[in-house]
Amino acid sequence: MQSKNARTAGNCRTIFGNSYLAVAVEGRAGRALLLYHSKSKVAPAFCRLSREPALSLSKGRLALAVAARRRHDSRRDGGATRSGSRPEEPVSYSTEKSKQAYEQTQGVLIEGSSSSSRGPATFGEYPIFMERGRGSRIFDVDGNEYIDWMMAFGALPLGHAHPEVVEAITGAAATGAHFASATPIELEVAEMLQSLIRNAERVRFANTGTEAMMAAIRLARGVTGRPKILKFEGHYHGWHDDLLVSSNVLPPSALGLRSDPVKIPDSSGLNRSALDDTIVVPWNDLKALQRAVENHPGQIATIVSEGIMANMGVIPPAKGYLRGLEDLAHANGILFILDETVTGFRIAPGGCQEYYRLSPDLVTFGKALGCGLPVAALVGRAQVMDALQWGGVLHYGTHNGSRIGMYAARANLRVLTRDDNAAFRHTWRIAERLCDGLSSLFRSQGVPAIVQRVGPMFQIMFTDQPAIRDYREFCQFVDRAAFQKFVLSLFPFGVYASPAAALHSIVTLAHTDADVDLTLEAAEKALEKTT
Ligand SMILES: Cc1ncc(COP(=O)(O)O)c(C=O)c1O
Repeated sequence: MQSKNARTAGNCRTIFGNSYLAVAVEGRAGRALLLYHSKSKVAPAFCRLSREPALSLSKGRLALAVAARRRHDSRRDGGATRSGSRPEEPVSYSTEKSKQAYEQTQGVLIEGSSSSSRGPATFGEYPIFMERGRGSRIFDVDGNEYIDWMMAFGALPLGHAHPEVVEAITGAAATGAHFASATPIELEVAEMLQSLIRNAERVRFANTGTEAMMAAIRLARGVTGRPKILKFEGHYHGWHDDLLVSSNVLPPSALGLRSDPVKIPDSSGLNRSALDDTIVVPWNDLKALQRAVENHPGQIATIVSEGIMANMGVIPPAKGYLRGLEDLAHANGILFILDETVTGFRIAPGGCQEYYRLSPDLVTFGKALGCGLPVAALVGRAQVMDALQWGGVLHYGTHNGSRIGMYAARANLRVLTRDDNAAFRHTWRIAERLCDGLSSLFRSQGVPAIVQRVGPMFQIMFTDQPAIRDYREFCQFVDRAAFQKFVLSLFPFGVYASPAAALHSIVTLAHTDADVDLTLEAAEKALEKTT
């Protein structure tokens, strides 16, 4: 195809960039891209092409090749790395400083960090020590640059250091962090939540998803006067005692029968008597749920569910399942708590509640609300939420509704909902492109892996199954070691995701089509190394 910027003749395609001239050549020995700097007319620089035919090379592809070339040049000249490219060859990749930093933490920080999910259990020998982030990129202490698909466990819906969030935070910090009193910004953010979330008749702020869920459980028990709570296998709702059961990946033989799951505490030190009142049921199985409700008449205060199972990769609800759950709860005087800690401000402006047309009694939010700051919320029907008044059901917290966090949340919600919720359309589109690309890569390479996605949340699962539909299937059929190996092999190619198979990746407003292209290239190279 001839265009103003490109000419094809014989085995050669010439493309004119802004400051580069590229000649793509296809010969029997392979494909090559020669880059000439149009100003200095230096000798041609050689750059390897990926698998795409050189003669159909587009301007977009040229831009990527030029970015890679510039990075190479700037490294060779001792210059700073530039965003917009990735490490060319893993040969130059080193995490020596991370290793040293980890060694220094020994005897000081447990597992080198402040949460077991960030330590060697997830990363292998030692975690990567990150130094800064901007947009879709994150940079480690060794100067490596990565496209970040993890985005702080989903806490950064706009990417790193979004300018409007930075301005909001610094402005709030400069005028006082905490007044131990009511603040106008709390009202403003609460009203924003009411406008986005249908059942948010009342709002209470907390700091973390765990805290919001603790308050929700207490509220449900207080309002119904019933002791028991029902949760699902493989769902995680924070690290408090009531719900910390059957949410880790375990050997299938440990799980017991579907009809009577073994309740497996996820930690030592739990209050075992609290767990006596926790009923565990397989998810995506209405019959099992119905049986459990019938077996505990008048005893169950609440059914707690994630909208999308987000702590066993990404597992969507079966069609009509959540509506069935909700109907069953309400028909039996049970409150439905929807945990939107992960899905809130991600799947849709009103979360899973909006997307699946649900009507829960209480909803918890965290992660994406504070744009990297610890902000969580409990919202719900006035009839239930008003029991918090005067501490009837007690919920305190020195840092609840933190002023700086509230300013971050306001900036975040403004950006997310701008231009008729354009951010949501963007993240869905980018995620679809990336996941389609990954799926066809696995297919074409004969790799037994699938990609499960809902909107901007996705996870690669190394499995020979066509789909993973619940916790038991995840435990039985997903090869977590293969996933960890694959993700760690992406790092040298400038792509970062959580190496934990039970977590998932997230597309944010900051991710671009170029990030998708580079990630697909990196995935192809990582597969060459690992399969
Ligand atoms: C669905 C869900 N609920 C609750 C939580 C707990 O949130 P936090 O880590 O902010 O306490 C998490 C954390 O990953 C989660 O995934």
